[in-house]
Amino acid sequence: MGQISAKSRLAAVFGHPVSHSLSPLMQNAAFAAAGIDAVYLAFDIPPDQLPAALKGCAALCCLGLNVTLPLKEAIIPLLDEVTPEAHLIGAVNTVEFRSGRLIGHNTDGRGFLLGLQRELGVKVEGGRVLIVGAGGAARGLAVALLNAGVERLSIANRTYPKAERLALLLSSHFPDAIIEPEPIEKERLSRAMERAEILLNATSVGMAERDPSLIPAELLRKDMVISDIVYHRETRLEAAARAAGARFLPGKAMLLYQGVLSFEIWTGQEAPVEVMKRVLTENRHSG
Ligand code: ATR
Repeated sequence: MGQISAKSRLAAVFGHPVSHSLSPLMQNAAFAAAGIDAVYLAFDIPPDQLPAALKGCAALCCLGLNVTLPLKEAIIPLLDEVTPEAHLIGAVNTVEFRSGRLIGHNTDGRGFLLGLQRELGVKVEGGRVLIVGAGGAARGLAVALLNAGVERLSIANRTYPKAERLALLLSSHFPDAIIEPEPIEKERLSRAMERAEILLNATSVGMAERDPSLIPAELLRKDMVISDIVYHRETRLEAAARAAGARFLPGKAMLLYQGVLSFEIWTGQEAPVEVMKRVLTENRHSG
């Protein structure tokens, strides 16, 4: 971090809990490398304190704000504007303070796409994707993928009606894409996997060391691109993907590139990606 002066701006992440967040390390390193006179702090904000905290941040002329669990949905009615993408996802992770207006963005899904492009050279336009999971994380990724022109999206979920509901909602916004729900059941998964070029685990399965992979290893192919939102450890899915010879994008890349996009929204400058990446690689804490 550079020296804090009377001109230094504040940037922050709000969460509850937030003490394990890697964003302060990543963003402070980025500010220092880019010569931006700002300091990024983490604040534990219980949901009932969010309106006051947000108002305080605006009054302090914050440079920018990230919000994480469980505040990503609750912040929406408190903002002046949200991007169409964040509106459809139903969650905001980045707030821009622009001429006194609070504008909500969601960089999680687009961060994943940027990671695919920069780390693996993969573009998703016209592609066929299988997402496992139908919760908030899956929704964010699905919207970004469909916005980027994915042609076919299968959504497999343990609770099948949730996959159906998400597929229906997305179909009404992306009528040109083929969007289909799938149960997590051997034969249906096997067929969905045959069609898919990209496989994405958007569930929390893999966070615990003993967690299995929801996709049987024998269904993974060398020609696939595979990714896992879990970044706390090497998951079974990651190990199986590497064993199959597939290209794999680690969850930490998503964390990195959502931060890269937040940085660029706040500063209007290109983010120092390599510096931010080094911080995440060197640090094994979760958050
Ligand atoms: P997030 O906002 O992080 O996506 P979430 O909305 O609670 O969190 O969604 C968690 C996702 O992980 C869901 O798709 C959930 O499946 P269900 O809808 O059936 O609950 C999935 N998930 C969590 N634990 C799972 C498990 N043990 N097996 C299969 N899916 C699991």
